[in-house]
Parts: sequence; C-alpha cells; structure tokens
Amino acid sequence: MNPRTTGTIAVFGATGQQGGAVVDALLDHKARVRALVRDPRSDRAQALAARGVELAAVRADDPASVATALAAVEGFSFMTPEANSLQEVEAEIRIGTTLIDAAVEAGVPHVVFNSVFGADRERGVPHHDSKHSIEEYLRKSGLRASMVRATAFMENFASVLAPSLEHGEIVLRLPLPEDVALKMISVRDVGRVAAALLLDTAEAPGGVIELVGDELTGPQIAAAFGARAGLPARYEALPLSVLPSDLDKVMFQEFAKAAEYPSDPAVVRSIEPATLDLAEWIRATNWTAPADVAVS
Ligand SMILES: NC(=O)c1ccc[n+]([C@@H]2O[C@H](COP(=O)([O-])OP(=O)(O)OC[C@H]3O[C@@H](n4cnc5c(N)ncnc54)[C@H](OP(=O)(O)O)[C@@H]3O)[C@@H](O)[C@H]2O)c1
Repeated sequence: MNPRTTGTIAVFGATGQQGGAVVDALLDHKARVRALVRDPRSDRAQALAARGVELAAVRADDPASVATALAAVEGFSFMTPEANSLQEVEAEIRIGTTLIDAAVEAGVPHVVFNSVFGADRERGVPHHDSKHSIEEYLRKSGLRASMVRATAFMENFASVLAPSLEHGEIVLRLPLPEDVALKMISVRDVGRVAAALLLDTAEAPGGVIELVGDELTGPQIAAAFGARAGLPARYEALPLSVLPSDLDKVMFQEFAKAAEYPSDPAVVRSIEPATLDLAEWIRATNWTAPADVAVS
C-alpha cells in the first residue's frame, strides 16, 4: 500500500534495536527519516547518515533540543531505554515524558510509542509499569498516539536467552515453567508495524497493538532450534532465583501468567502479513548452533 504520510518521520533510538528496525522499514518505503541521536559522530549514527538518514542531535533531558529536532515532522517514533534498576526506571519515565512534551511543543501530528505488552495497566513489573505511565502521559497529551506493545524479542535467543549445544543436544534453559507459552516478536516486525502506522498504511485498533509473532512453550522453542540444527533438543525450566535482577524476576513471574495477557497474532499479520514466527526467524537470521560445550 502506498504511504499516505509522505513527510519526514523522526525516530528516537534509531541507533538501537527497535528504532533501527523502524528506520529500516521506513527506508524500505523510501520515507524521509530524521534520527534524533545523542551523538551524531558515533559510528552507528554515521552509518545511518550514510543510508540517507538526516541526523539531529538531541539531549533526552532537554525538551527544547528535542522540540527543535521535531520541527515540521509528520510522525515521531520513540522507544525508551532499558531500565535495570528502580533509579533507571525513573530515568526511563523522565525520558518518555520529555519526548512527549517536546512532541506537544512541536505539534507533531502522530506519535508512535514502542511500549511493552500488557502496558494497559500496572502489573508490578517496574520496567513495564514505566511504559504504562508513559502511555498514560501520551494519551493525556492530546497528541494522536499509537502504542506498539512488543512482547519478548526473538533476538534474545541470539544473546541473553541463547540455547547451548551440550554433548550433541540443543539445550534451552529459561526461568519459565515448561507448560507456559512465551509470547514473542522479532525486532524486524516491531519496526515494520511501527512504520506502517507512521506512514498511515495501517491503523492500530483503538490506537494499540500487542505485538506477537509466536507463542511457544520452552520445549517447543528448544524443538524449533533443534529442528534447525538437525539435533535433539531439550528444555530445562529454571527457578526465578537464577535471575540476578529483581526487575527480571518479577517480569518472568508475569510471563508465567500468560493467560492474563491476551494477544492476537492475526491482528499483527493484518498489518504485517510476513510477520515471522520463531521457525521463520531462526531461518531468516541464519541461526546456527553454537560450539558444543563438550568439545570446545
Ligand atoms: N528485550 C526485549 O525482549 C524487550 C521486549 C519488549 C520491550 N523491550 C523494551 O525495549 C526497550 C529497549 O529497546 P531497544 O532494545 O531497541 O534498545 P537498545 O537497542 O538498547 O537501544 C537504545 C537506544 O536508545 C538510545 N539512548 C539510550 N539512552 C539515551 C539517552 N539518554 N539519550 C538519547 N538516546 C538514548 C541509544 O542511543 P545510543 O546509540 O546513543 O546509545 C539507542 O539508540 C526497553 O525499554 C525494553 O524494556 C524489550
């Protein structure tokens, strides 16, 4: 579908995972993109500039700098940085509200916030409740707003949640009971859905979309990696106590209440028909098994 929005789209977090995926998707549609970055000289900012992205330097604690960078844009995509402590949660909320204040000052026609699944209410997970607060602030701002609520990124399986290869067997260990389905989405598709909303080729029902591309239990996730590797696979559910961060402990506790988080992959696919399920993500990213701990 042809974009109905043809002006410049501003992206905060463009040098990171989600913002980077929003930029990729916008450039795929030949949109004009302005990245709001804290250091235009950084390698990642310069890589964006080399792809035709305009750079605007901002300070996330200075609404005036952000408002200036948002001048005359037709859409604004923002995420908020990962918080690993209650202090960082406060900082995350401040960044979100500063960006919204700046969007109000600049009169941005449409703001898309990369939030998190279940942020319709407080759940007792500090770095998710922060997004609920930011959503509320955005709603009250009077701006036209869309919330793109991501579930767990499939990309975690290439980093913090990566399966291992042990004595010829793929082993996945998560602090999640084995009968609970984890909801997940690829970062690529977070970007594609956000871009579709920004370009007005799609609309989120009620201004909100819960992004889920797949829902699989631990044994099913392990099996998907095993199938790709052509190896047997097993899952081991770990206790929450293995997590060093209290924030992550309550987050995984909430993950285990999957039934309290309704989501509908069909809604996501109605906006991005090629939304990846986990097996497709594994293929698309050319995932290969790590070295076997038995032989390395
Ligand atoms: N991991 C998951 O499964 C998952 C799922 C759903 C939601 N989330 C949420 O996603 C968010 C993280 O998104 P992400 O993975 O895209 O982050 P990311 O890859 O770590 O990128 C962070 C971005 O924010 C920018 N940034 C950080 N602090 C800044 C500051 N003070 N001023 C200006 N820019 C700043 C960084 O710019 P620089 O290049 O200058 O550092 C970078 O562009 C978190 O809020 C997390 O809770 C994560």
